Amino acid sequence: LGHTVHWLPEVGSTNDVARRLADDGAPEGTLVIADRQLAGRGRLRRAWWSPPGGLWMSLILRPTLPPERLPLLTLAAAAAVAEALERHAGRPVAVKWPNDVLIDDRKIAGILLETVAHPHGAEYVVAGIGINLDVEGEPVPPGLEGRLTWLAREVVEPVTRNEVAEAVLDRLEVRYRQLHDQGPDPVLDAWRARAAWLGEPVRVTLPAGEVVGIALDVAPDGSLVVEQAGGRRERVLAGDVQRLRP
Ligand code: BTN
Repeated sequence: LGHTVHWLPEVGSTNDVARRLADDGAPEGTLVIADRQLAGRGRLRRAWWSPPGGLWMSLILRPTLPPERLPLLTLAAAAAVAEALERHAGRPVAVKWPNDVLIDDRKIAGILLETVAHPHGAEYVVAGIGINLDVEGEPVPPGLEGRLTWLAREVVEPVTRNEVAEAVLDRLEVRYRQLHDQGPDPVLDAWRARAAWLGEPVRVTLPAGEVVGIALDVAPDGSLVVEQAGGRRERVLAGDVQRLRP
């Protein structure tokens, strides 16, 4: 992964550039990196703050996984990013379902997977990864202060963007292969080992409604298992998790 790199100073969204390349037949592993994004996208149609000083990248994947396993790619990427950051950060790095990477409960990275489907599975997947590296001095958008962090704040030795990109690609390659060769378990275990808030009371805001209960586990389809009052278990496929008693 990452043998061909398209580096761009400024783009709308690296995911869009990667999609255009994939539509034109770019092979698996093609990587797009931008210094800054003017229209970075997050999950649930949110904007993603992408000033200079971050690692904003999108990777083209052409997985041969059954469609029900595709959501696990998000967990694989989140675990890989956490593993890569752990090499440099002086403290534990956690993952939060489905796609957040946190240090001390502050978001340091996010993952946005976009799947272009064909009838038998994925034609291709663009794995968009955004990591705050050194955004010191960039004005943080209102509402995000105190809720995000960046690597330069968390490390002892300075790290370059290339070093972080290499570490991420390295771990991603391992987890991506594992998903194909060994099924969900190794990836789920790597994710669980760093999971924030498992066993804790949470509120999950869904596209329609909400689920309140204990965040029990992740299932082999990548969904979050929540145990509601009375013991009923609900599997949530998409939503926003908040801890109820921080
Ligand atoms: C999220 O946490 O909501 C996901 C954020 C994903 C951000 C990355 S930055 C590189 C790629 N290009 C985008 O427009 N988004 C992803």
